[in-house]
Amino acid sequence: MASDTQPAAQPVQPAVQPPAQAARPASRAQPPASSAAARRPAAGARWIVPVKIAVFIAAWYPLARIVLFGLTDRLGANPIEFITRSTGLWTLVFLCITLAVTPLRRLTGVAAFVRFRRMLGLYAFFYATLHFTTYLWFDKWFDVAEIVKDIGKRPFITVGFAAFVLLIALAATSPRAMVRKLGRRWQMLHRSIYAIGALAILHFWWMKAGKHDLILPKIYGAIMVALLGWRLVVWLRDRMSKAH
Ligand code: HEM
Repeated sequence: MASDTQPAAQPVQPAVQPPAQAARPASRAQPPASSAAARRPAAGARWIVPVKIAVFIAAWYPLARIVLFGLTDRLGANPIEFITRSTGLWTLVFLCITLAVTPLRRLTGVAAFVRFRRMLGLYAFFYATLHFTTYLWFDKWFDVAEIVKDIGKRPFITVGFAAFVLLIALAATSPRAMVRKLGRRWQMLHRSIYAIGALAILHFWWMKAGKHDLILPKIYGAIMVALLGWRLVVWLRDRMSKAH
């Protein structure tokens, strides 16, 4: 299994690392090259707990906003649409942040960033579940036949549903016990985060194309292309350096 502190010439990492590894104490990781880098993991250990708590609390903001707007009658003329769109957009935001962890770790050399990834990925799943539940409950009133018809008929729902099913698989296998149980298969499964990112953009794009409003899908699409493209470039560079 790959280490969080491995040099740039290693194969590119999946967006979600095995937590057992992510939580490995810095002192047991490979020795860093420079003395500045050597100080980084120790410093990370000091800031990591308060920052983790701050991120944990901040990630509730989108839900708190919806609840506050609901209580103060500010959800607009169509509250269901507001909640569906808000939870959908925040799912996408958390997916982008989760995918940004590896580039950030490798560009800065701060290995401790990886310790946020599981929490961020689980928040993406949390908002996706709220998003799907709003659709299932308030849009379709648990009419399974209607939902199955919708998934088959509307391409943007089809790809959104596919992304959600993959996210369920990642969330279900996120506990440490599952990482140990699945071994290498865990890493392969968690590479599907890239497919989830692509499907999420397609879902957003298709939905907005029908409304001739592609500004946001283009912005998020560009962010996703940059995040996935970065991985591809690193992977190709590593393969080439291995071949020589
Ligand atoms: C990873 C999974 C998903 C992501 C990232 C996602 C993301 C999004 C985004 C960004 C929007 C548009 C928000 C806006 O207008 O600003 C949206 C809308 C929507 N999504 Fe999803 N979605 C996902 C899964 C699903 C699933 C599983 C369903 C239902 C089966 C679904 C149904 C809808 C619906 C009905 C809308 C609103 C359409 C409208 O207002 O006309 N999404 N989603």
